[in-house]
Amino acid sequence: MRVLVIGTGGREHALVTALANDPAVASLHAAPGNPGMALLAELHPVDPMDPAAVAALATTLQADLVVVGPEAPLVAGVADAVRAAGISCFGPSGAAAQLEGSKAFAKDVMTAAGVPTARAFTCTTPAEAAAALDEFGAPYVVKNDSLAAGKGVVVTDDRDAALAHAAECGRVVIEEYLDGPEVSLFVVTDGKAARPLLPAQDFKRLADNDEGPNTGGMGAYAPLDWAPSDLTPTVLDQVVFPVLREMTDRGTPFQGLLYVGLALTSKGGPKVIEFNARFGDPETQVVLPLLENGLAGLLLAAANGTLDAHPELTWRDAAAVTVVIASDGYPAKPVAGDVITGADGPGYIHAGTKLTSEGLVSAGGRVLCCTAVAPSLPEARDAAYALVDKVSLRASQHRTDIARPR
Ligand code: AMP
Ligand code: GLY
Repeated sequence: MRVLVIGTGGREHALVTALANDPAVASLHAAPGNPGMALLAELHPVDPMDPAAVAALATTLQADLVVVGPEAPLVAGVADAVRAAGISCFGPSGAAAQLEGSKAFAKDVMTAAGVPTARAFTCTTPAEAAAALDEFGAPYVVKNDSLAAGKGVVVTDDRDAALAHAAECGRVVIEEYLDGPEVSLFVVTDGKAARPLLPAQDFKRLADNDEGPNTGGMGAYAPLDWAPSDLTPTVLDQVVFPVLREMTDRGTPFQGLLYVGLALTSKGGPKVIEFNARFGDPETQVVLPLLENGLAGLLLAAANGTLDAHPELTWRDAAAVTVVIASDGYPAKPVAGDVITGADGPGYIHAGTKLTSEGLVSAGGRVLCCTAVAPSLPEARDAAYALVDKVSLRASQHRTDIARPR
């Protein structure tokens, strides 16, 4: 199989790594890619936001399967263009990607499908926002309605800060605060059938003990030995299948990766915090290395609508941990261009790097995901932190409590 992966980040490097290990993949391409992916795949320059350019590249490469990594190209209709060119594409249409592209649309779908989630109001004026905040009380949750690369959500006890975020965004969803640990559940789907992946946990705040600002994710681990054993079947039954049916009924079936972000609330069981229309980052870095099945066949079956006939997934009896090394200034103002040394050998997933005449340099907020797999979680954690210790990057930031015993 000839496979093309679209994107530049850690998630795409993790996808490329899993595809490179799959004997069904005869030729592996990435666009635009990054220096980590370059070791495993042939890179091609392309604007990932340009549907026609991506479709043309896939056609030139005679790709059998295109995997679109990030949300922005999906929302921009890249998967539609690839499919229109007659090529199988893993990833939802632009219309179906609105499950991630608009928080208000996602809430509407959840309400229609009877999915457990936080009660919410969509607000466009300061008066509406104030009324919604007072309806729910603190802690306040204010979400930018449109794509904000993980930075659109403010959770705060400060009513003025909540109002200011609402005013800055224009259109927001204000919702009830959900307590409880968060779990990311990824589901591969062709629109009807679904194959859940292992639940994982992401660490969204910048600093240890969940302090500091929200980020795209500072680390992750899997499996979650503390999660209820019926979590995945419950979420399939209460969330995934109702949403897939609702999307089909609306004429916009969802094919690709449905990322269900959950809060395991103390009173109400699992409730949806958000949907994403693509693999999560950095959870993908820990989930895919534990998958025993070939990834390419699974994604192709979803793309082609034949997932029902695909074998059930099996998982390694092991644990995986990833620790993100972020640049100086992340998340507010990441500094790029600092030299990275020591990130050689397996386990270094590149998230924001670039090769220059000075060597490897930082090129984004999250720079590297130091990823290890081991028989047990403590061993995987130690191995991931051993990878962190070998890297040097000026003023870099990382959490020291990823996958620490709870
Ligand atoms: P989102 O972009 O919707 O995933 O939100 C980012 C983060 O904000 C989540 O991972 C949660 O930590 C937090 N968050 C979002 N919605 C809620 C909520 N209703 N209650 C509590 N925390 C939330
Ligand atoms: N890990 C959070 C996300 O991918 O949105």
